[in-house]
Amino acid sequence: MRLRNKPGAMDRIKQFPNLVIDKPEALKGLWKKQFNNYNPINIEIGTGRGDFIVGMAKLHPQVNFIGIEKYTSVIIDAMEKVIEEGLTNIVFLNKDADKLTEYFEKNEVGRVYLNFSDPWPKSRHHKRRLTHKNFLDKYKLIMPDNGEVHFKTDNVNLFEFSLQSLSEENFILQNISLDLHNSGIKNNVMTEYERKFSEKGQKIMRLEAKLK
Ligand SMILES: C[S@@+](CC[C@H](N)C(=O)[O-])C[C@H]1O[C@@H](n2cnc3c(N)ncnc32)[C@H](O)[C@@H]1O
Repeated sequence: MRLRNKPGAMDRIKQFPNLVIDKPEALKGLWKKQFNNYNPINIEIGTGRGDFIVGMAKLHPQVNFIGIEKYTSVIIDAMEKVIEEGLTNIVFLNKDADKLTEYFEKNEVGRVYLNFSDPWPKSRHHKRRLTHKNFLDKYKLIMPDNGEVHFKTDNVNLFEFSLQSLSEENFILQNISLDLHNSGIKNNVMTEYERKFSEKGQKIMRLEAKLK
């Protein structure tokens, strides 16, 4: 992702403290109260400019969504989309997902979405992949026993790695597609990267993984 520093982005974000939550650790175990309902809570890690999570929040008003993105220069675009749409079932964390377990309690998150996560091709960087065992262990600590990870990518190596890693970590793999856009899937909400890669003719791969 090309990241340009956006002057004033942080000041703009600070104007919406209920939309981009500054201290999520203070809400650990209290997210239902924050949303003011008992609807399920799904998160996306690496939200980027927010096309996916904002689209999902529009499509599923009975679900609460939390988008986590470490770069201010892109999450600000996601925030502006929510302000424009007037959605109330979505918030953002401008944080690194490394600290997920400080923000959520066991059973608090039903599903984790990972879309076009950074591939980290060098072996010594595999630990940074969002489907590495180290991250899967964190997801298990915030999800219920039947929690799910949904993953989309255009990167074959990352997809193979993720199939292996998820199956080794006790997830049941289901609804695997090696060519999502020709799979007959309904209600697929596209991400920015998905649109860009599929316009270039690249195949999009997708899987769902459910905890045993
Ligand atoms: C390749 S982009 C994909 C963006 C978007 N999901 C899409 O499909 O268009 C990956 C995004 O994940 C974010 N990211 C990567 N690792 C992260 C982490 N540990 N915590 C939060 N965000 C992360 C990056 O900053 C980047 O914006």
